[in-house]
Amino acid sequence: MLILGLESSCDETAAAIFDQQQNKILSQHVASQDKVHAPYGGVVPELASRQHLEKIIPIIRRTLKDANLQLTDIDGLAVTNAPGLMGSLLIGIQVAKGLALALNKPLIGVNHLEGHLNAINLQAPDVPYPHIGLVVSGGHTSLYDVENFGEYKLLGATRDDAAGEAYDKVAKLLGLGYPGGPIIDKLAPKGNPKAFRFTLPQFGGYAAKRETSTLDFSFSGIKTAALLAFRQAVQKNEVAEKFVADLAASFQNTVVNFLVKRALEAAHQTKAKAIVLAGGVAANSELRKTMAQACEQNNLTCLLPEIKHCTDNAAMIAYVGARYLQMGKQSDLSLNAIANQEIGV
Ligand code: KG4
Ligand code: ZN
Repeated sequence: MLILGLESSCDETAAAIFDQQQNKILSQHVASQDKVHAPYGGVVPELASRQHLEKIIPIIRRTLKDANLQLTDIDGLAVTNAPGLMGSLLIGIQVAKGLALALNKPLIGVNHLEGHLNAINLQAPDVPYPHIGLVVSGGHTSLYDVENFGEYKLLGATRDDAAGEAYDKVAKLLGLGYPGGPIIDKLAPKGNPKAFRFTLPQFGGYAAKRETSTLDFSFSGIKTAALLAFRQAVQKNEVAEKFVADLAASFQNTVVNFLVKRALEAAHQTKAKAIVLAGGVAANSELRKTMAQACEQNNLTCLLPEIKHCTDNAAMIAYVGARYLQMGKQSDLSLNAIANQEIGV
């Protein structure tokens, strides 16, 4: 069974072909819109939709060509239908529906977060269950107890900004460009991670009485602390190369330690034996290194997807779609975009 996967939930237009028999991606392409959104320091939804519209057919054509396939060879269509930007999601959905109708092949809508959580299956056939899945992206920072394929329990999530969003906002503040994650990742090793002390959020006292989950995240405080340090340095005329590298390193150090701490707490609470990283921020070199070390020290298996399967891609969507289609699930032509849709709640 050959599944064509499409992803257009945010600012990447992607297509991939998954061969279920071989459990292998035959080809995949991603058209990034980074250059289009960079002048604005973030994704402009209207521009994103227009880009998807321009790119999606050429990307599908290229993906088919690389795999030496025709559209008629495809056995099913998988498309991200939630969560994401409505205008962006709709482009992928309409194209997938059109193809499914024209080819008379089954269609399946896939949740983008479920795609991220399963990206690891593209390279590790024997992923241990249950495991802790940590999705860290531009829109989400969520911890899951992954009991099996399709069985997720949300253990904690961010109460404000997502980790990637905080990376992008701090990079914007420092005038480093967009997207900020990879830029800060590259710059941080040049700075001192102990130069600034940012305290980790505590959900104690009143919040603990009011809220249930202690596995939640919060990044707005760290972001504001970076903003205050920056303002102070501007006032004192101290914003030089070293300052920027130190702030980037300290910010990254705090975020990484926070993510690792929570993932270990979750593994401890659920007695899981493995931690799986997912999402764009999972491409971060410091996070990958620190998580791997922490897992080793705690007798846990650490599973890190390939970098190309951390950031948005269609391979993970094709994989999840193929699994559901094999289980006999499918969507009909009323499939629609859903802007907000958590899994495992
Ligand atoms: O998963 P993704 O491609 O899209 C969403 O679903 O949001 O994640 C994008 C986010 C952006 O915020 C970007 O800055 C961040 O992932 N990111 C990184 C790195 N590469 C991408 N953050 C930290 N270090 C990286 N190397
Ligand atoms: Zn994503």
